[in-house]
Amino acid sequence: MDGRDLVRAVRDLGTERGRRAWRSAWRHRRADAVGLVQRGAERARVPGLLTGTEPRPGGGVLRFARSELLVRVTAGGAVFWGWDGALPEPSYALAGSGPEPDPRAVLEPDTGGGWRVVSERVTVAVSRHGAVEVRSPGGTVLRREFPPRWWEPVEAGRGGARWAQRSEVAADARFFGLGGRSAGPRLRDGTYRLWNTDPNGAFGPGDDPLYVTMPVQLVVADAGTHLVFHDNPWDGRVVLREGEEGAGSGADRPGASELRMEGGPLRCWVLVGTPARVLQGWSGLTGGAAVPPEWALGYQHARWGFGSGAEVRRVVAGYARRGLALSAVHLDIDHYDGHRVFTVDRERFADLPGLAAELRGGGVRLVSIVDPAVKADHAVHASGLAVGAGGAFVRDARGAEVRGEVWPGECAYPDFTDPAVREWWGGLYEERLARGFAGFWHDMNEPVSFAPFGDRTLPRSARHAMDGAGGDHRSGHNVYALGMARAAWEGLVRLRPDERPFLFSRSGWAGMQRYGGSWSGDVESSWEGLRASLALVLGLGLCGVPYSGPDVGGFGGSPSPELYVRWLQLGSYLPLFRTHSAIWAGRREPWEFGAEAEEQARAVLAERERLRPYFLSLAHLARRTGAPYVRPLWWGAPEDRALRDCEDAFLLGDALLVAPVLECGADRRAVRLPRGRWYDTATGAAHEGPGQILLDAPRGRIPVLARAGSVLPVRSPEGDGGVALEVWAPARGRTGGGVVVRDAGPGFEAAEPERYTVRWAGDEVLVEDEAGGRVPGVVVRGAGG
Ligand code: GLC
Repeated sequence: MDGRDLVRAVRDLGTERGRRAWRSAWRHRRADAVGLVQRGAERARVPGLLTGTEPRPGGGVLRFARSELLVRVTAGGAVFWGWDGALPEPSYALAGSGPEPDPRAVLEPDTGGGWRVVSERVTVAVSRHGAVEVRSPGGTVLRREFPPRWWEPVEAGRGGARWAQRSEVAADARFFGLGGRSAGPRLRDGTYRLWNTDPNGAFGPGDDPLYVTMPVQLVVADAGTHLVFHDNPWDGRVVLREGEEGAGSGADRPGASELRMEGGPLRCWVLVGTPARVLQGWSGLTGGAAVPPEWALGYQHARWGFGSGAEVRRVVAGYARRGLALSAVHLDIDHYDGHRVFTVDRERFADLPGLAAELRGGGVRLVSIVDPAVKADHAVHASGLAVGAGGAFVRDARGAEVRGEVWPGECAYPDFTDPAVREWWGGLYEERLARGFAGFWHDMNEPVSFAPFGDRTLPRSARHAMDGAGGDHRSGHNVYALGMARAAWEGLVRLRPDERPFLFSRSGWAGMQRYGGSWSGDVESSWEGLRASLALVLGLGLCGVPYSGPDVGGFGGSPSPELYVRWLQLGSYLPLFRTHSAIWAGRREPWEFGAEAEEQARAVLAERERLRPYFLSLAHLARRTGAPYVRPLWWGAPEDRALRDCEDAFLLGDALLVAPVLECGADRRAVRLPRGRWYDTATGAAHEGPGQILLDAPRGRIPVLARAGSVLPVRSPEGDGGVALEVWAPARGRTGGGVVVRDAGPGFEAAEPERYTVRWAGDEVLVEDEAGGRVPGVVVRGAGG
C-alpha cells in the first residue's frame, strides 16, 4: 500500500461504505486463506533435449525430454504453438476454432539438430533445446523465444505450473500493445502487469496496469512487423527492454521481452507481415469489430450526477439552443434507485421512456451505464438465484456466494463465464430497452470490489464456471468483462435483432471488439491525462479494439478552458467522442468555459458532424480489415524509424493525419509527415513528406492534414443530410483513390465497399467508380496547388 492508499484507507474508516469495504476486504482475505491451496515447494523444469517428432497438418509435434511442443502454421500464415499439450482451444479470445492448418507447411529437419516448418509467409524453426524462432520468408529472425521454464509444486494437487518465457527481437524494434496502457503507445523499458485493474481514482501516465490488459504485443522493426498473443488470461507480467544498436563494443543489443505467468497454458499465436496484414490476421483470429450504430459516431455527453430528468433536459436544450450538435446523453449510476443496476430512481427520473422519446425527437439517444455487481437485496439478485443449478453468482471455494462492496453496498457478482448466466443477464437489458435506452456503457467490470487493502476485486479463490472447464478467479478475472460484454451483446441481438447494439466497456480482454468498444476510464484532468488518453486509444487499436475514446476534459477535475478545448479537439478525431466527468468535477458543457471556448467547441462539433460518414466508413472497414480507425503514423511505413518514435500524432483512416496539441500554451507544433504529399486542411498548403514541418495551432484548431489523392465521405455541404465525397488532389502525375463504406441500414445488412480512383485529366481532378464511371458532385480540394 503506498502513502496515498494508506491515507485513503484510514479515511474510509470514517464512512459507512468505508467500513463495509474494510469488512469485505477482510472477508476476501479469509476466503483466500481457506480457499487457495498453498503451493509449497516448487520444482523448475525446462523442456530438455529433443527426442522425436511427429508430423501433423501444418507442422507437427516435437517431443522433448520433459515436454512437448505442437507447432502449426495455418493457411493464412498465422503460427500457433503450444507447450505441454496446449491446443488452440478452448479460448476466450478466438472467434472460431482458429484457422485451418496450411496443408503445404510440413515439419522438416533444420540445421543443428533442430526442425522447421516453412510456409509462404513465415518460417518457424525449433532448436533441439526448444528455442523457437519466427523468421520472415527472407530468413530474417523476427523473434526468438528461448526454451520456456516451468515451476511446479513438488506435491501433486497443489496447483498447476507457473511459467516464464524470454524472447528477443531486433535491436531496432519497438513494442506496442498489451491492451490499454497510459504510458504508451510506445512501450518503453519496464514491467507491465496483465491483470485488469481499476486504478482507484483518476490515473495518469505513470499508472499501470489499467482496466484492459492483454497479452498482445505488436512489435515493429526494420525487418518486419509481428504480433504475438499468448492465449492465457491468468495474471502475469511482461518485462520489456528495448534493444540498442551498436551497444557495448559496437554490437547490437537485441530487444528483450519476458513473460511470466502465474498459471494457465503456454500457447501462442504469431502473425507476421505489414501492420495492416498483421491486424487483418488478428481480426480474422479474434473476430471482426462490432460496427457501432451511426449515431454512436457523433458527439456524446455524459456526466455522473445529472441528478434528474429536468437537468438532462436543461443540458440537451443548452446544446440545441446554441446549435451545437449532440448525438447522445449518458446516464450514470445516479439515475438508478440506490445505485442498483437495472432500476430507475422514479422520483428524479419520473418518466424515462417519455424523456427518451422526447430527446429522440431532437436526434439525441440515451445511453445507460450498466455495472455488473448486483445488490444483495435487489429483485435482480433474486432472479439470478434461480439461474441454473447453483444460481448466477460467483461462489467461494466452500460454496458461499462471494460478496463485495460496490456503489450500491454489499453486492454479488454474476459469473459471466457460465453460459446460462450470460443468457439470463442478456435478457435483463429488456428492461433498459423498455425505458428507452439505446446504448450501454459497462463499468466497474474488472470487476471492482472496494477494498482499503489487498486487491480491489474478487478473491482469487472465488470459483468460476469457465464455460465448463471450472476454475477460480486467477483464470476468470481477466475475462470477466469480456463475458459480460458477450452476455449483453447476445442478449441485445436477441431482443432487437434488427439493430446493431451500442456497447462499450471499461474492462475487457482479447476479442472484446466482437461485442463493442472501450473507453479510457477515469483519466485525470491534466495535460498528462490528455496525452495518456491518446496512448490508450492507439494501444487498444493495435490490440484489435478500434472503437474507444477518453473522458473529454478528464474525469475528476476542472480543466482550464484551454485544456478543455484541446481535449475536445483531440476527442473529435477519436472514434468514441464523449465528454464525461465525476460527480465532484467541474461542468463539461462547452458554454461553461466562456464565449471563446464555446465558439471553438462549435467549430469542433461541426467538423465532427461533417466527418461522421468518414467515421462510419472507418467503422465498417475496421470490421472488414482489422485496421483501427486511429493508427500510429508508422502504419503504412513501419520501416520509417522517425515515425515509429512519433507518439503525438496519428492517422485517422488512410486520409487524415491529426496532430493534436498536447502542451499547455502551445500555438504551433512540429508535425512529422509520412512519405507523400499532405495538405494542411485549414490553409490548403501542400507539404511533402517524409520530414518534419512546423504548423500553426492557434487555440481554435489543431493541425489536420489530408493525404494527396485521398477520398473521404463527408456530410454533404447542401445541408440535406446526404453524403458527398471530398477528394484531395493527387500530386501532378500521380493518382489516388479510396474505399468508402456506407451504412446499408441500422442493422446487420451487408454494406458493400465502394472503390474510387482519382486522377488528373488535363487540369481537372477526376474521380471514377469501379466501373470507370465519372462520379459527379465531388468536392475537390488542393487542386490549385
Ligand atoms: C467509475 C467510472 C466512471 C463513472 C463512475 C460512477 O469511476 O469509471 O466513468 O462515472 O464509476 O459510475
